[in-house]
Amino acid sequence: MSKAMKGIIFIVVLCLIDVGIEGRVVSLLQSFEKESTTSDGFGHNHGYSKSFNGIFDTSNYGILQLNNGLARTPQMGWNSWNFFACNINETVIKETADALISTGLADLGYVYVNIDDCWSFVTRDSEGQLVPDPKTFPSGIKALADYIHGKGLKLGIYSDAGAFTCEVRPGSLFHEKDDASLFSSWGVDYLKYDNCFNLGIKPEKRYPPMRDALNATGRTIFYSLCEWGVDDPALWAGKVGNSWRTTDDINDTWASMTTIADLNDKWASYAGPGGWNDPDMLEVGNGGMSYQEYRSHFSIWALMKAPLLVGCDVRNITAETFEILSNEEVIAVNQDPLGVQGRKVYETGTDGCLQVWAGPLSGHRLAVVLWNRCSESATITAGWEALGLEFSTSVSVRDLWQHKYVAVDAVASFGTQVDSHNCHMYIFTPQTVARSAI
Ligand SMILES: *[C@@H]1O[C@H](CO)[C@@H](O)[C@H](O)[C@H]1NC(C)=O
Ligand SMILES: *[C@@H]1O[C@H](CO)[C@@H](O)[C@H](O)[C@H]1NC(C)=O
Ligand SMILES: *[C@@H]1O[C@H](CO)[C@@H](O)[C@H](O)[C@H]1NC(C)=O
Ligand SMILES: *[C@@H]1O[C@H](CO)[C@@H](O)[C@H](O)[C@H]1NC(C)=O
Repeated sequence: MSKAMKGIIFIVVLCLIDVGIEGRVVSLLQSFEKESTTSDGFGHNHGYSKSFNGIFDTSNYGILQLNNGLARTPQMGWNSWNFFACNINETVIKETADALISTGLADLGYVYVNIDDCWSFVTRDSEGQLVPDPKTFPSGIKALADYIHGKGLKLGIYSDAGAFTCEVRPGSLFHEKDDASLFSSWGVDYLKYDNCFNLGIKPEKRYPPMRDALNATGRTIFYSLCEWGVDDPALWAGKVGNSWRTTDDINDTWASMTTIADLNDKWASYAGPGGWNDPDMLEVGNGGMSYQEYRSHFSIWALMKAPLLVGCDVRNITAETFEILSNEEVIAVNQDPLGVQGRKVYETGTDGCLQVWAGPLSGHRLAVVLWNRCSESATITAGWEALGLEFSTSVSVRDLWQHKYVAVDAVASFGTQVDSHNCHMYIFTPQTVARSAI
């Protein structure tokens, strides 16, 4: 075949891939739009107004996908860092896997068991290979992966796109091929790739070689970029990884969680199946926030299509923490197949502390969160205009924390009293859908 022919075929294939992604998005979202030319009385616009596509801009959704088949919905699982930091060993990883099964969290979708920093010995061996710390992981990572796989779960590991990891274990920069083959030979399913000791080289240069090295192993491995939002990864990381951190590390405080939610919100239009904005792992259950604050943390992370990576000690989980992490209706919002990131659509009050966040769901539905970030209880009202609904649309409202319908025919707006730092989360279903589409 001539070079020119190959070139043409290549372009045609690229166009087909493009149409596949774009076509899907357009067909999913189009149905939310008002169709001005047809009207059968109820139905065709599904109750949405012309402003809908402006409010929930998805123009960048799925434009640059890493096509490894993973991350069709945001990843769910557990990671060792937020609770254990460097105090890990193979026993605690295995016990956590056991606990994910015995609590039922694994059945709800939390399947990745991800080891963070400190699993590796402080130097490579004489052949230049990474070695698990013989004191804390004496059986090695392969044995651990076998154990985790035996439970139907997946194993994640950690390395760094630099000379060293943040805890000064050997980094993978310039060792991408060796390390990716080693991870693959151990049966690793997921790599979190950090950003310490990066020698001042741009992340756009340091992260693609590991993508290519992972791909070359032939094993399907989830690639989670953790470059702290440097150089706005939403703009370029979609073709590099399955998720990319948009911010610095979270910590177990209200200030950190709210700050990060706002920073991540900025990139909403770039998320989509195959690649997600990552505002960092969950702190739910670690003790630094109240029940209401953790509920807000979990609700907003779910709405933002953030990875749901539990960060507490699952072996010793309280009933309250379990109630939050196991809310199937909230998880379903996160895992909705439409895969459009929800966002802040309205704010009022002092410094905008009374907020409405919302996002489109499959079936012409909307997820809506009324979030009170003020220091006093207050009424928060979601007006149809802010949500992209026609003023006259009648909506049924299901409360995802009370697990019941709280309105069957809300029109023009829906509001309720929300305690300080708490949120209420709902699914809004325009009634035209109930009549014509369900
Ligand atoms: C393993 O790590 C856990 C959590 O830090 C700790 O409680 C336990 O003592 C460690 N076990 C060993 C054998 O070091
Ligand atoms: C490697 O990349 C190609 C091209 O994007 C993709 O089709 C394939 O599924 C990838 N393989 C693995 C193992 O990730
Ligand atoms: C937690 O994050 C907040 C907000 O980013 C920051 O102000 C604070 O210093 C951090 N606290 C700790 C203990 O790192
Ligand atoms: C289990 O959690 C409780 C409270 O959440 C705490 O007081 C206790 O120290 C924890 N136990 C272990 C072994 O971590």
